[in-house]
Amino acid sequence: MKTIVHVVGARPNYMKIAPLMDALTKVPGIRQILVNTGQHYDEAMSKGFLRELSLPRPDRDLEVGSGSHAVQTAKVMMGFEEVCLAEKPDLVVVVGDVNSTMAATLVAAKLLIPVAHVEAGLRSGDRAMPEEINRLVTDRLADLLLTPSSDGDEHLKAEGVPPEKIVLVGNIMIDTLMRHLPIATLDRLRPRLDVKERSYAVLTLHRPSNVDHAETFKGILEAVHEIARDMPIVFPVHPRTRERVREFGLERYFEGVTLTEPLGYVDFLSLSSHARLVLSDSGGLQEESTALGIPCLTLRENTERPATVTHGTNRVVGTKPANIMAGYRAAMAMTQADLDRRPPLWDGHTAERIAVVLQKYLFG
Ligand code: UD1
Repeated sequence: MKTIVHVVGARPNYMKIAPLMDALTKVPGIRQILVNTGQHYDEAMSKGFLRELSLPRPDRDLEVGSGSHAVQTAKVMMGFEEVCLAEKPDLVVVVGDVNSTMAATLVAAKLLIPVAHVEAGLRSGDRAMPEEINRLVTDRLADLLLTPSSDGDEHLKAEGVPPEKIVLVGNIMIDTLMRHLPIATLDRLRPRLDVKERSYAVLTLHRPSNVDHAETFKGILEAVHEIARDMPIVFPVHPRTRERVREFGLERYFEGVTLTEPLGYVDFLSLSSHARLVLSDSGGLQEESTALGIPCLTLRENTERPATVTHGTNRVVGTKPANIMAGYRAAMAMTQADLDRRPPLWDGHTAERIAVVLQKYLFG
């Protein structure tokens, strides 16, 4: 029997681990353990996701909560080291690029436990993003680098990773998206939200570089305010963002914008999959909108997910109002052929491919 320890901690992790744990139940001889670091802890940010995605109850909850990067990372490391010493895993699986991903990787690497990183090789080239540091450290230490798109393979090879450690498996988030699409209807949002098919935009914002700087945040909201004159906008608000809106006194920009609490996975998919447009600084949403064929304006200066631009519906427009508005006009003019493009292997079968790779790695 081989033991795999899976690590989740923040909202974008759950939908990446869920299909993989499911696929691995079909592989004989594997014991799976789920560790929830507790980086996210609110019902809407964490607990609801675990239930909705049919993840098993975590075997261990580290309950690290919020804190500075150093504090959060250190707390995950301390808790995760105990788990590794007790469970003696043959492999640790980490996903994405949050603090929990990097912290768990550091612990496993020092205990000489092999690490598989799902969503390896992404690079924005921007070290001001905490996630970029997490990606660099995680990929440097991981033993198996499972990439979502070929740009990931190229980055890793350029950084000197031996090619035999890299496997292009596709995008596992799209597995979860495809599974839940049939139940993601606008009806399930009513009466809380009354929006009409393809006639509204969805906005999300949570990056510190956008919402922690009043001038940048205001610039984005000026464009949002203008777009809201054309079409209604729904804005589920991340806890960090809600605090900044209050602190900077930005409430006046939200005329024509419906603000909601953070939504669960299926509710959010219901909202995004029937929208006319997505405006966001999220990483995952660039990918999900591409998979859904919905135009996306990425409110950042760069992306670590260029396949969504070259093979999808994404435009990286920055945070200046004039650039966002130019992107908006271009997005509205996209043809059906533009909207139908998809990167290779974003097909809903990534978890199965990863299960095959892990089986081979563990059993030869
Ligand atoms: C983290 C990830 C980011 C990911 C995002 C998804 C890192 C460095 N960042 O950012 O990559 O895109 O998750 O949401 O790992 N808070 C709550 N309730 C919660 C969790 C957080 O109120 O359940 C508030 C707290 O004020 C906290 C702040 O949000 O200080 C930030 O949380 P944190 O986990 O540090 O980072 P995120 O901004 O959520």
